[in-house]
Amino acid sequence: MPDLSPKNPKDTEVVMTQLILPPDANNLDAAFGGKVMEWIDICGAVAAQRHCRQVVVTASMDDLHFHAPIKVGWVALLHARVLAAFRTSMEVGVTVHAENPPTGERHLTTSALLTFVAIDKDGARVPVPPVAAQTDAEREVIREAEVRRAQRLARQKENQGWLKVMKPLAGA
Ligand SMILES: CC(C)(COP(=O)(O)OP(=O)(O)OC[C@H]1O[C@@H](n2cnc3c(N)ncnc32)[C@H](O)[C@@H]1OP(=O)(O)O)[C@@H](O)C(=O)NCCC(=O)NCCS
Repeated sequence: MPDLSPKNPKDTEVVMTQLILPPDANNLDAAFGGKVMEWIDICGAVAAQRHCRQVVVTASMDDLHFHAPIKVGWVALLHARVLAAFRTSMEVGVTVHAENPPTGERHLTTSALLTFVAIDKDGARVPVPPVAAQTDAEREVIREAEVRRAQRLARQKENQGWLKVMKPLAGA
């Protein structure tokens, strides 16, 4: 039986560090966005797994913003944390800061929200523990996440005309 006792969100925090090397870069000598998204997905998944102690799959990534590039030779510092937990899904926030190795200067480059779903070995959804908010700020974060979740699920059903124009390539 999974442990469904409430979890302190602080205990889900993950910090991941990547040195930006030429193979990670685009033709502007900055980190390639798809590579940064891969690291965000991994960092977020580890936070979600820390919360529920189950295998998780990524259901969605949204509110992904590239605020600034990360130059080759700089360090990317990823930080993930579970913001809210629902029945079988969790919303995780991930930020990426760039650090200049010689000066230590840091600034925000990327932020994203991801939803992960806990699954068992047969792929069935598994309930996850609630988040035990410790502070008013953490309680506010949960309230905001509940609003976002409703908007996200509604958005998935609405304004989907664009999928119809993509149908020819899907062979449907
Ligand atoms: C994500 C996935 C498990 C959801 O399956 P589903 O049949 O839509 O599941 P359900 O309707 O039972 O929803 C399960 C949970 O996922 C949430 N969910 C489903 N689609 C979602 C989406 N696009 N965004 C956010 N949450 C989503 C539901 O709200 C629900 O949450 P809750 O249990 O906390 O209320 C399924 O679509 C899947 O396996 N996708 C592929 C995942 C994958 O391969 N990821 C990349 C590699 S890890």
